[in-house]
Amino acid sequence: MSEYNLDNDFSSSFLKNALKTEIWNKLVNQKANACPMAMRVAWHSSGTFDKSDNSGGSDGATMRFEPEKSDGANAGLHIIHDLLIPVKKEFPNISTADIWAMSGAVAVEFAGGPSVPFSLGRSDSPKPVPPNGRLPDASQGAEHLREVFGRMGFNDREIVALSGGHTLGRCHKVRSGFDGAWTQNPLKFDNSYFKNLMDMEWKPREWDGPLQYTDPSGTLTMLPTDIALKTDPSFSVTARLYADDESVFFSDFSLAYSKLLSLGCESAPPACPHAREAFSAEFRDHSMHGSIEHCRAAVEKGADVHSREKNSGRTALHKACYWNHTHMMSWMLTDLKLDPNVQDYNGDTALHDASMFGHVKIVEALLEAGCDRSIKNKSGKTAAEVAVDYEKPETAAILKGKGGVELPVV
Ligand code: HEM
Repeated sequence: MSEYNLDNDFSSSFLKNALKTEIWNKLVNQKANACPMAMRVAWHSSGTFDKSDNSGGSDGATMRFEPEKSDGANAGLHIIHDLLIPVKKEFPNISTADIWAMSGAVAVEFAGGPSVPFSLGRSDSPKPVPPNGRLPDASQGAEHLREVFGRMGFNDREIVALSGGHTLGRCHKVRSGFDGAWTQNPLKFDNSYFKNLMDMEWKPREWDGPLQYTDPSGTLTMLPTDIALKTDPSFSVTARLYADDESVFFSDFSLAYSKLLSLGCESAPPACPHAREAFSAEFRDHSMHGSIEHCRAAVEKGADVHSREKNSGRTALHKACYWNHTHMMSWMLTDLKLDPNVQDYNGDTALHDASMFGHVKIVEALLEAGCDRSIKNKSGKTAAEVAVDYEKPETAAILKGKGGVELPVV
C-alpha cells in the first residue's frame, strides 16, 4: 500500500472517494443492484471473529480459501467477489480484504442508510482460515444469537442493530433454503424491517421448506432468529425503539456495523479504533471548514477531540485557528478544553498558525486560554516573530510581552 499515504487525512479521503466511485459502478448499474449481497459479504467476512483468541474477522479475506470458501452459509457470495475483481485491478495496492469490507460499508449508504465509518489498512497476507460453523444459524433463537455475537464482542443492543441489516435483500431458496424478503422495498435501507417485525403478526409459513414466518398477506418473511428479537424481552425493547425512531437505528447500526467490519484487524482492539479514528478525522476535517454542527456530531459519535493528524501532528484546534474560525474558539477552548500549546511536527502551535495570517481575534482567544507565547517552532520562532515575518504588526503588538519580541519600528 506504499503508493497511498493512508496516514494523511487528505490523501486517505481522496483515495476512499475514488474507491467508492469504482465500487458504486460495480454494485449499482444497469445489470444489477448488488448492495444487499455486498453487505452480506462484508458481514460474513467479519462475523467469523472470535475475541477469545483474535482469530477470524475481516483481515486477510480468508473467504477466498477452503473451508470458508465453500461454507454453506456463504453460498452465492462468490458473485460479489467476482464483481469486485475489476476494483482490485484498478487499485492493486488495496487489499481484497479492504475492498470487500469497504463495499459492505458503502453499500449501506448507497441504499439510503447512514454512512459507516471505515478505515483502510487490512492485509491479504496469509492468515489461518477460521473453521466453518461460526456464523449464526437462522433456525435458532435468542440464546444462540447471544452466543455467536457475544463471541465477537457484541452486546444485546448491538445484536438487534446489526440484525437490522435484514432491511436489505432477501432469502433465496437455492442459497439458504429460506425464501422471501423482510421488507416491501429490499433495496432501500430504512427501519421498515423493525416496523414490520414489531407491528405485523407473524405466523409459521405453510410450505415444504424450513420453519420461517410470514405476515398476514403472505408476502414477507421473518426467520426464527428475526422473530427472537420480538419475543426476547431484552431484544424487543431495542427492536421497538428502532421501529419508532429510525434515526436511533441509523446511528446504532452505523457504529455496530463499523465495529463489525474492523473485527480481526491487527490494530483493532475491541474499542474499534477504526471507527474512532474515522470520527476523529471527521472532527478535524470539519474544524478546518468551521462547521460546528458537524464537529459536534463527530464528537457525539466518539471522536477523540485531542487527536492529531498522523503525518503532520496537527489538531482540530490548529485547523480551526489556521482558517480563522473565531466562532469555534469558545467551544473548543472552554467547553472541550483543547490544549492550546500542542505543537505540530513543525513545532507550530495554533498561535503560530493564527499569527501568520494576523487572525487577531483567534490570537486573543488563545492568549486568554493560557497559550504560552514563548513556545518556539522548529525554525526557532515564537508566534510574535512569525507575525513580524508575515508583516502583521497588529498581531505582533498583541503578542508583545512576556515571551514576545521587541517590534521593529514601523
Ligand atoms: C442475526 C443473525 C443472522 C442470521 C441468522 C442471518 C441469516 C441470513 C439468511 C439465512 C439470509 C438469506 C441468504 C440467502 O438465502 O441468500 C440472510 C440474508 C441477508 N443477511 Fe443475514 N443473517 C444474520 C445477520 C445479518 C447481519 C448482522 C447482517 C448485516 C449487518 C445481515 C445482512 C444480510 C443481508 C443484506 C441479506 C440479504 C442478501 C441478499 O439479498 O442476497 N444479516 N441472512
